[in-house]
Amino acid sequence: MSNLKVLIVGSSIAGPTAAYFFAKAGFHVTIIERFASLRTGGQNIDIRTAGVTVMRKIPGMEASVRAIKAPEEGIQIVRADGRPYGTIRPSGNPDQQSLVSEYEIFRGDLAKILVDLTKEHERVKYVFGEQVKVMKHSEKKYGPIAVEFANGFPASEYDLVVACDGATSRTRALGFGCGVRDHVHSVNAWAAYFSLDQDLLEGGKMGQGYSVPGGRMVTLGPGFSGQNRVMLMGIHPRNEHEAMVPFREAMKSGDDATKQYITQHFAGAGWKTDEILKGMIDSQDFYASELVQVKIPNLSKGRFVLVGDAGYAAGPTGGGTSLAIAGAYVLAGEVARNKGDIKAGLVAYEERMTPIIADLQKIPPGVPGLMAPQTAWGIWVRNTLFAIFTRIGIIDFAGRFFSSSFAGDTYGLPEYEWVE
Ligand SMILES: Cc1cc2nc3c(=O)[nH]c(=O)nc-3n(C[C@H](O)[C@H](O)[C@H](O)COP(=O)(O)OP(=O)(O)OC[C@H]3O[C@@H](n4cnc5c(N)ncnc54)[C@H](O)[C@@H]3O)c2cc1C
Ligand SMILES: *[C@@H]1O[C@H](CO)[C@@H](O)[C@H](O)[C@H]1NC(C)=O
Repeated sequence: MSNLKVLIVGSSIAGPTAAYFFAKAGFHVTIIERFASLRTGGQNIDIRTAGVTVMRKIPGMEASVRAIKAPEEGIQIVRADGRPYGTIRPSGNPDQQSLVSEYEIFRGDLAKILVDLTKEHERVKYVFGEQVKVMKHSEKKYGPIAVEFANGFPASEYDLVVACDGATSRTRALGFGCGVRDHVHSVNAWAAYFSLDQDLLEGGKMGQGYSVPGGRMVTLGPGFSGQNRVMLMGIHPRNEHEAMVPFREAMKSGDDATKQYITQHFAGAGWKTDEILKGMIDSQDFYASELVQVKIPNLSKGRFVLVGDAGYAAGPTGGGTSLAIAGAYVLAGEVARNKGDIKAGLVAYEERMTPIIADLQKIPPGVPGLMAPQTAWGIWVRNTLFAIFTRIGIIDFAGRFFSSSFAGDTYGLPEYEWVE
């Protein structure tokens, strides 16, 4: 297999994980990233279930994640005057996690750990500031793919092209000959993330969440070095599809228009939202996105294949990162197991991942509705339940009952044999 060349597109979570295992399988890996450099920080994500299993197969990864974990000690839902209804903390057991993960980490920080673990490898080459311009499937049955790049990296043929460029993957559109929004399903919700230069938690290490009628939710968490991390979320009823239009229009016009839309949406919400909205205007790392799921009939076409959000973004289930890590492992492992028979490897990858994807994409009943109820009454019910559940300690049980992301890993991923 030693001469096989794989191109990986995207250097966030799925990309570097796939690079790690393909290099281990003896492939020569080129990994391209659209941005000129790696960005640290970003939103909180968490590693659960099969993601934990695969993390432990990468020497050094778990220790690195623990060393730079998000500083949050738990979460509280608070009243307008700041008094909490209750508190959830991590369970203390990585194999049976609570709603608050043992491995909660900022997305960019996890990406950096994975890139650092792979960038020195002799068979892995990173190219930043590059993307695919043209991709030609071979005329021959199952021949290599000819790829041209947008910013000057030399055109070449690859035995396998792996798209890891996220839910709105442009590479997916090129490889499947479809539109960028095809196979992307809105869950009628959006979220915005940014850092605040002040500490509205006044040194507190407990994240706080506050709901306002109309499906609006604000969370404030401790960042590193006295900052706060903010998430603002807008959740619309599942059947009101037009409700997302103003957000999408604002996103098309850029960050300033999006900030303006969000400011209007949260006007007069109470608690600390005025200070938070003021801080949003000047924040340097503002990032907003629609919450979506990707569902596609096949994960590959010829020698082109999808991994992570590009193939199976999970939306609001909390399982997206774990799916991306597990998918990267299974793809490289199945191609390795089939001794470089890429076609057999791709079919086995899809077979093994399909049930795991279905499970981790299942949106628990009441989510995202419970996270940000539409009415004052809904908020009261949610907060009261939260208070009771956290007090008697059954919220973890409830979490596991509702969503596979909170259960232990029952998927039985195989041990693969690698070249090195
Ligand atoms: C708002 C939001 C909240 C989330 N919350 C959670 C959570 O709580 N828990 C959880 O587990 N998961 C969460 N996720 C999901 C999680 O972020 C993803 O599942 C995970 O990051 C998937 O990684 P990925 O590598 O597949 O894709 P991404 O992280 O999306 O990375 C795609 C990469 O490809 C690059 N790229 C994009 N286009 C191109 C191109 N054309 N050419 C080259 N490079 C390109 C991007 O710059 C980026 O580096 C959330 C996601 C969002 C959007
Ligand atoms: C595509 O999907 C079909 C139906 O699920 C499956 O039988 C087939 O093996 C898939 N193709 C690949 C290349 O995985």
